[in-house]
Amino acid sequence: MNRKISMKTLVFSSFFTAIFLLGSSNAQSCSFSFPGRSYATCVSLPVLNSFLHWTYHESNRTVDLAYRHTQITASKWVVWALNPSGGAMAGAQCLVAFTNSSGGVQAYTSPIPVPGYTNTQLEQGQLSFQVPRLSAEFGGNQMTIFSTIVLPDAGTRFTQVWQHGDVSGNRLLSHPQTQEHQSSFGSIDFSTGVTSGTGASIAGSRQRRRNVHGVLNVVSWGILIPIGAMTARYLKVFKAANPAWFYLHAACQTSAYIVGVAGWGTGLKLGSDSPGVVHSVHRKIGITLFVLGTLQVFALLLRPKPDHKYRIYWNMYHIGIGYSVIILSIINIFEGFDLLDPEKKWKRAYIGILIFLGANAAILEALTWFIVIKRKKPDSDKYSHSANGINGSSGYGA
Ligand SMILES: *[C@@H]1O[C@H](CO)[C@@H](O)[C@H](O)[C@H]1NC(C)=O
Ligand SMILES: *[C@@H]1O[C@H](CO)[C@@H](O)[C@H](O)[C@H]1NC(C)=O
Ligand SMILES: *[C@@H]1O[C@H](CO)[C@@H](O)[C@H](O)[C@H]1NC(C)=O
Repeated sequence: MNRKISMKTLVFSSFFTAIFLLGSSNAQSCSFSFPGRSYATCVSLPVLNSFLHWTYHESNRTVDLAYRHTQITASKWVVWALNPSGGAMAGAQCLVAFTNSSGGVQAYTSPIPVPGYTNTQLEQGQLSFQVPRLSAEFGGNQMTIFSTIVLPDAGTRFTQVWQHGDVSGNRLLSHPQTQEHQSSFGSIDFSTGVTSGTGASIAGSRQRRRNVHGVLNVVSWGILIPIGAMTARYLKVFKAANPAWFYLHAACQTSAYIVGVAGWGTGLKLGSDSPGVVHSVHRKIGITLFVLGTLQVFALLLRPKPDHKYRIYWNMYHIGIGYSVIILSIINIFEGFDLLDPEKKWKRAYIGILIFLGANAAILEALTWFIVIKRKKPDSDKYSHSANGINGSSGYGA
């Protein structure tokens, strides 16, 4: 009875988690605190994992800003620019930062000329407006440009441009030409905080894809597979659940595998769409999980009969890979949370689900041992320690 209720609760909690995660369409967070500094406004820029934090002082038309470009390596240059002429690259007034060949972070200004702008190597030069302060810091796969600029002309609405590219020695190579790199500009109003950009729709769809990727994988690898493992381990012991546990286990893991492979595919696509982004660990674990999950599905088809002498080895193999998949899945989901950087509550929700599953497993584990030991006394052969899966008491699954 209790078990039934807890399974129901599990299914519901995973369902609602999925709905919540889908609902958080703009999960990228501006909630970043700079030691010793604070800014009044922040916008999450639509592409290239970037954020602009700033405070606008109307009295002297200055903007104190921090441009934060996340998920890049030290071998990249980073630019945030204002373009008073309204274009994207031609005429952009750039704040440039990169890690030089001796490991120091350099920050300087570079105006991009209007004619011949495509040949720029971001040479140092004075901008068309004043830049009283400029510095940059790199750390934790994140480059931040700190600056104070004096807004040119009148008004507070300008075109902003942001970019990154490779550094070779001390030479800044031209930026990649992917869709993201070509749409990393848009308007910004420093007074109202309103931004818009051509990149916005691309970024919106990308953000949706990232959320879909997260939800599919959390629900499949992170929730369904552990539940499927629990059905095998804890239902087996009950006589009444004799063939049922097997069907439940197989159905749960097969559907988890199908959803998981879909989630895996969205991840591969996301990875290939953002070259230069650092998530090799997440990717490697993801590929390993796909291989192990596929092995499990084939193992199901190739399993020896329950009374076959090699069945014990098959069981050890199946259970061993199964637990590895669960552990790796949980690790990779947390890697994924760090990459997606959603609001803290989603990570907490998943931790909550894990604690819930863990608590249920602990209770059921105790119950299982209790039943097994109790049964062993009067009739030891019939239910020979079925709970550990070495010899399925059900005898099912041939
Ligand atoms: C601009 O004005 C603000 C206060 O309104 C002040 O804190 C800031 O230092 C000024 N910036 C410059 C560069 O003068
Ligand atoms: C690298 O940057 C640091 C800090 O800005 C600077 O002191 C150093 O001279 C630079 N090295 C080269 C080779 O440019
Ligand atoms: C497994 O169960 C079968 C009966 O289903 C029994 O004959 C056999 O001895 C059991 N093996 C072990 C290792 O308990």
